[in-house]
Amino acid sequence: MSFISEALKNSYHTGSVWPSSRALALSITKSFREKSGPRKILEVGPGSGPFTKVILESLRSDDEYHLVEINEAFCKDLQTRFIDPYLSQPGESAKVELHQGAIEEVTLPSAFDFTVCGLPFNNFPPTVTRSIFRQLLDLTRTTGDLAYFEYAAVRKMRGAVVGSDGRAKIKRIDAHGKSMLKRFNGHREFVFGNLPPAYVIRLCGIGS
Ligand SMILES: C[S@@+](CC[C@H](N)C(=O)[O-])C[C@H]1O[C@@H](n2cnc3c(N)ncnc32)[C@H](O)[C@@H]1O
Repeated sequence: MSFISEALKNSYHTGSVWPSSRALALSITKSFREKSGPRKILEVGPGSGPFTKVILESLRSDDEYHLVEINEAFCKDLQTRFIDPYLSQPGESAKVELHQGAIEEVTLPSAFDFTVCGLPFNNFPPTVTRSIFRQLLDLTRTTGDLAYFEYAAVRKMRGAVVGSDGRAKIKRIDAHGKSMLKRFNGHREFVFGNLPPAYVIRLCGIGS
């Protein structure tokens, strides 16, 4: 299945034409991979699975991993290419559950240690972005991490081609991102090895 064909069919939800690179996947999953003990992880918007692949490679039998994806074709592909082969490996496996639907609508257990989000926030109206963030923060343990990414200079480039309403929306999304960084002791990591290059944003210790 081609990521590109799904992206062209539904550009609002997909928000890019290329899947993320392994370099971006390694960066966005870094704190999860470095943590010992049982880990509970949530991935939102896995798409064709570049982050899923890295997460499954690092999963241990006492971990729990939930994925939420709105696109039915991506869900079928994730199940057959990644989840079924992982679960049919010999030995004990972690609990892995794929939820098909919008993150705003699915019912999930809470208190995740790590939330990895691939949603294209710059495509969404600022009110939707804010409400999804609130939900992700509620789902993440107070000592947990929430990581997401955005393409470098994406708002500057968009700002140059949209009208004044579009620019006002971009400004609101930008201001929201900056306030989250400040409030949650956030860090940005530049990942050159992605098309296009991107920043991973990691908010640490959500409740502290
Ligand atoms: C930018 S793509 C990222 C895909 C993948 N994580 C990657 O980095 O290549 C965004 C993904 O989020 C999914 N998505 C968009 N809105 C969603 C929502 N409200 N709930 C769940 N998934 C959503 C899209 O279908 C798409 O697979």
